[in-house]
Amino acid sequence: MCGILGLLLHDPTVNVAAEIAEGLSLLQHRGQDACGIITCGPKGRFYQCKANGMVRDIFDDSSIARLIGGMGVGHVRYPTAGSFNNAEAQPFYVNSPYGIVFAHNGNLINTSSLMQFMDQVSHRHINTASDSELLLNIFADNLQKTGKFRINEEDIFTAIGGVVSQCKGAYACVAMLAGFGIIAFRDPNGIRPVGMASRKTANGEGSDYIFASESVVADACGFTDWEDVKPGEAVIITRNGVSRRQVSSPSTLAPDIFEYVYFARPDSVIDGVSVYRSRMAMGDVLAEKVKRVLAENNLTVDVVIPVPDTSRVAALNLAQRLALPYREGFIKNRYVGRTFIMPGQQMRKKNVRRKLNAMALEFADKNVLLVDDSIVRGTTSKEIVQMAKDVGAKKVIVASCAPPIRYPNVYGIDMPSRKELVAYGRNEVEIAKAIGADLVVFQSLPDLVESVRHLNTSINAFDCSVFTGDYITGGVTEEYLQHVEGLRSDNNRLKLNLDTNVLQSDVVNGYPNGHAAESGPPSSTAGLDDSVGLHNTWKSN
Ligand SMILES: *[C@@H]1O[C@H](CO)[C@@H](O)[C@H](O)[C@H]1NC(C)=O
Ligand SMILES: *[C@@H]1O[C@H](CO)[C@@H](O)[C@H](O)[C@H]1NC(C)=O
Ligand SMILES: *[C@@H]1O[C@H](CO)[C@@H](O)[C@H](O)[C@H]1NC(C)=O
Repeated sequence: MCGILGLLLHDPTVNVAAEIAEGLSLLQHRGQDACGIITCGPKGRFYQCKANGMVRDIFDDSSIARLIGGMGVGHVRYPTAGSFNNAEAQPFYVNSPYGIVFAHNGNLINTSSLMQFMDQVSHRHINTASDSELLLNIFADNLQKTGKFRINEEDIFTAIGGVVSQCKGAYACVAMLAGFGIIAFRDPNGIRPVGMASRKTANGEGSDYIFASESVVADACGFTDWEDVKPGEAVIITRNGVSRRQVSSPSTLAPDIFEYVYFARPDSVIDGVSVYRSRMAMGDVLAEKVKRVLAENNLTVDVVIPVPDTSRVAALNLAQRLALPYREGFIKNRYVGRTFIMPGQQMRKKNVRRKLNAMALEFADKNVLLVDDSIVRGTTSKEIVQMAKDVGAKKVIVASCAPPIRYPNVYGIDMPSRKELVAYGRNEVEIAKAIGADLVVFQSLPDLVESVRHLNTSINAFDCSVFTGDYITGGVTEEYLQHVEGLRSDNNRLKLNLDTNVLQSDVVNGYPNGHAAESGPPSSTAGLDDSVGLHNTWKSN
């Protein structure tokens, strides 16, 4: 999962980097592996800083000061395809046919066909395993086809139309053309979110514009009139204003329901649905099912305890519905990263206890109902159930706001191989046994969908593939799933992560090593030297 951001200030002499960094920190929950900013300064020069690490580690006053220019693009990354290699930190850059900077959230599913096309037809070198670099080169290739020395908005819309017809999968993208402006587009199903907002300048003479994965960024940075980029729509923003165009034939909006379950911040609104309200509704409907299942099993519950943080909202509503006490039994150490996002099964186990502490006084001699947003691998749940028992819980019942996850996500969320999913090949009784709980209660899929959909009834579909195995874009074959699972297996990942440790420690020493040292021929995604301007002879009209 990733976060993307584009910002264009009306006044080109004001540097934009500090505000982009601020915005990226609000998207940090979408990816903590790497981050980067590229700005565009006078004469269309790009300046970049990107590296493995969190926003607060990579950006400081001096790196921000070197990022010159009044427009820029930022990215926070958790890798889904490709690796942990920091050469794959985004945004990416190509210098042909124009200086283009690109940041992507999502995952393509016809990567191998696209790679072949790049190699054999377009003769563009792809330097990393990242499908974001691939997507950028497809975009560049389509721009090149317009054959113009100076490009205009029509050409850009045509080029994005070409990208959308070639690329299958999930992609919410923000791009920047040197000396021209910023661009956003979203795949025809709108699987991943991206929206836009504006802000009047202090003197009221013009407007600043922002693109971001989530509306929380716009709120916090003083932007208003948030609007989602529509599925299959492209938006171009220059200092002359905003142009929007539907570049693909109409398709069904089908946002990934997991954004609401887990990923997005509760204070964001995606496709007109408040994530917070949807989580409240998930708690309400789950309460009804919990009540029924408890009765069937002759069980009673003394207290409802959320697994922090995501499930708090739902757990509170659930407790209220059942007229049960809600207690914060687990206290979180705020200074440890989210476990879902840590590579390697071993690390994940240890991390739960680093991250949470169970307060005996809320568990001792009680039947506790633990509420979690979802159960993925089950390793975290198992540890949490054990922690509850260790401090004296009599019975531990686990309720999940999402149905059992049995299929991999191919649209940008890290849910690797089916075999790693605790619900794979297990029924609910077997899942309870696997995580050591006395009982598990899963939300039904229709209930989950309704929790979100009732907040915007014009959304007719959601991507629920992790629960059903039905992939909204089609074209996801068993062969492709196996390929993805191979790419993402924990062992692979751990190994790659260890390989880049040396580079990571550079970051700690204040030398973000963010350039792709091995850049290919001129048309490839050359890494820019950090904060070093790159001549760009092309100018906008
Ligand atoms: C991308 O995907 C579609 C459908 O899966 C396929 O027909 C097409 O040839 C692919 N590749 C390119 C380069 O367009
Ligand atoms: C609700 O969803 C539809 C798409 O089906 C979208 O066009 C509309 O803008 C959304 N409503 C809000 C308030 O965003
Ligand atoms: C629940 O209790 C009732 C009556 O005491 C009994 O008939 C039933 O078998 C019990 N069900 C379970 C699942 O234990």
